[in-house]
Amino acid sequence: MLARKLTQQLGHPTQSLGGWLVTKFLERRNRALEERAVRLCEIQPDSTVLEVGFGPGLGLQEAVQYLTDPRGKLLGLDCSEYMHKVASERLRDHIASGKVRLFQGSVESIPLPACSVDKVYHCNCYYFWPDLRAGSAELHRVMKPGALMVTTLNMASLKEVVSCGVLQDKKWPPEPYMEALRSAGFTDVRLEEKQNKGRDFQAIFATAAK
Ligand SMILES: C[S@@+](CC[C@H](N)C(=O)[O-])C[C@H]1O[C@@H](n2cnc3c(N)ncnc32)[C@H](O)[C@@H]1O
Repeated sequence: MLARKLTQQLGHPTQSLGGWLVTKFLERRNRALEERAVRLCEIQPDSTVLEVGFGPGLGLQEAVQYLTDPRGKLLGLDCSEYMHKVASERLRDHIASGKVRLFQGSVESIPLPACSVDKVYHCNCYYFWPDLRAGSAELHRVMKPGALMVTTLNMASLKEVVSCGVLQDKKWPPEPYMEALRSAGFTDVRLEEKQNKGRDFQAIFATAAK
């Protein structure tokens, strides 16, 4: 019961005690993974960058620092109204200046034109997508040919939470996601083992077809 409720809140935090607790948990636990995803993207000062499932917005806060050219833009998409509110507050100055734009919506229907994004990253998010193939195809649609996507995850932590009954019905193993990316037309789809300050994590890379 508790594990099911926690899974629900992780996948779609709501404005509630549970959603607040999950937000605090994400803020404490996921900053390093978010920062790693941003760095592995190799954002250029004038890039157009998209984060899917930004949650409380720590990764957005990291990514915006790289976009020093006036042409650089940061876009975010999250299906949770509560996360949209929390991240909008965190990024309010950048939103006011027009540097950052956040959308509330799901990855299967991204409110962006085709071939408009240079870099995409997401962290602890694809497990909750209702349809991995539809989500992957939509990401491929909005990415420019040759654009890079990076996903970071921590398999050891994932296995730990799964052993407690969390994420039971979710597609968290990387293989089905990587298969969906390939079938959507991404190339050079690969998982790399990485380390950050002595802690292991994994990164999935995928390049939009040229
Ligand atoms: C576990 S949280 C991770 C948040 C943040 N990336 C982090 O690592 O701290 C998952 C986030 O993905 C969002 N999300 C889940 N399914 C989504 C979908 N289909 N489209 C867009 N966002 C989604 C949730 O609302 C939530 O904010």
